[in-house]
Amino acid sequence: MLKALIDLNEIVTLKGAHSKEGRHLVADDLSIIKDGAIVYDESKILWVGETTRLPEQYRNLAQSMKGHVLTPEVVDSHTHIVFGGDRAQEYADRLNGVSYEEIAKRGGGILYTMKQTNEASQEELFQTACERIERLHSYGIGTIEIKSGYGLNFEKEFEVTLLIDRLKKKYAPRIQIFNTYLAAHDVPKSFQSSADYMAKVVIPLLEKLAPLKVIDAVDIFHEKNYFTADDVELLFNKAQSLGIACKTHADELNDNDGAALAIKHGALSADHLLKISSSGIKALAGSQTVATLLPGTAFFLGKPLAPGRALLDGGAKVAIASDYNPGSCHCDNVLLVASMSAAQLKLNQAELWSGITLNASAALGFKNQGAIIPGMKPRFSLFKTESLSHITYNWGRNFAVSLP
Ligand code: NIG
Ligand code: FE
Repeated sequence: MLKALIDLNEIVTLKGAHSKEGRHLVADDLSIIKDGAIVYDESKILWVGETTRLPEQYRNLAQSMKGHVLTPEVVDSHTHIVFGGDRAQEYADRLNGVSYEEIAKRGGGILYTMKQTNEASQEELFQTACERIERLHSYGIGTIEIKSGYGLNFEKEFEVTLLIDRLKKKYAPRIQIFNTYLAAHDVPKSFQSSADYMAKVVIPLLEKLAPLKVIDAVDIFHEKNYFTADDVELLFNKAQSLGIACKTHADELNDNDGAALAIKHGALSADHLLKISSSGIKALAGSQTVATLLPGTAFFLGKPLAPGRALLDGGAKVAIASDYNPGSCHCDNVLLVASMSAAQLKLNQAELWSGITLNASAALGFKNQGAIIPGMKPRFSLFKTESLSHITYNWGRNFAVSLP
């Protein structure tokens, strides 16, 4: 059905950012149209411009949206929202001085959530995931990447990947879900080593799931005491041979040249990067791999933020995501995360908004969304407020409303 919205206070098109492929952005690359109008159908944007220039043939459809701001759809390109239980006690312990790494060594952390996830029924996991997805959507987030990775055995990881596929089918097209296979999230104590777990669970399960065409990308926690560079090579080579895209958790707690390894395999994104080296920054800047910052995790773990400015100045495509998970970042609102970290990361407005729209879409391999340009997908976020600046200025306040 054809729709025409007029009198929008601002349409944030990101046309400038799109033409620069999300790199080296200045504030003007927001390419804002004031008093804007837009025409679109279910599959694409047909016309964008000032309300006074709306072509005659669309005038009888026009709905006034005075007092609203339209942006490209907000995307959360890194979440772990399928999990059982919570880790509130662990967070309290961390505030009381125990580190994330120490908690993991004591059998807490990801392995604790693994236990709670395995104790939860499929329906419980599905229902809690639905509640979480609806909550994200209420903030204006319309595309959500969801990782498996708390089952950590053959049966439960299989179940969780199919559960994410069920979520994807339930919510399409209102909410677009991207299914990431992260069986390589941690190594349960019953395995001798990460290589043993890769050989017995991660690789055979990937081979079983691939023909079902439910996986959009694979991911791995490339980190000391979790998975090695050899494990990453094994997973990425297998994924590539099956035609599946790669993503990685890289250089988070230690620098392990994770970004370079991701680039070598043409990964869609390398995420975290708190400890990335200067050569890693240079490599990402010269690549198509998106550098995904997860500032909420640094805040939640009490660690310094990733070197976002150096990545941006080098020319990397930078996205910002929530990392919403029960342990290292129990915050589900990427718009809040981006708004509250912008001053610390020294992001201009175009970098901030591209980070959660255009570049976040690129981190999922979605080339036809993230800007408001005729021909692109009609995926938007709508906010009831006077200008874009009011959204980030009031961080934490929710202005998102549904499209008419
Ligand atoms: O992205 N780093 C690995 N995975 C999550 C943490 C998950 C957890 O602590 O439960 C992350 O930070
Ligand atoms: Fe993560």
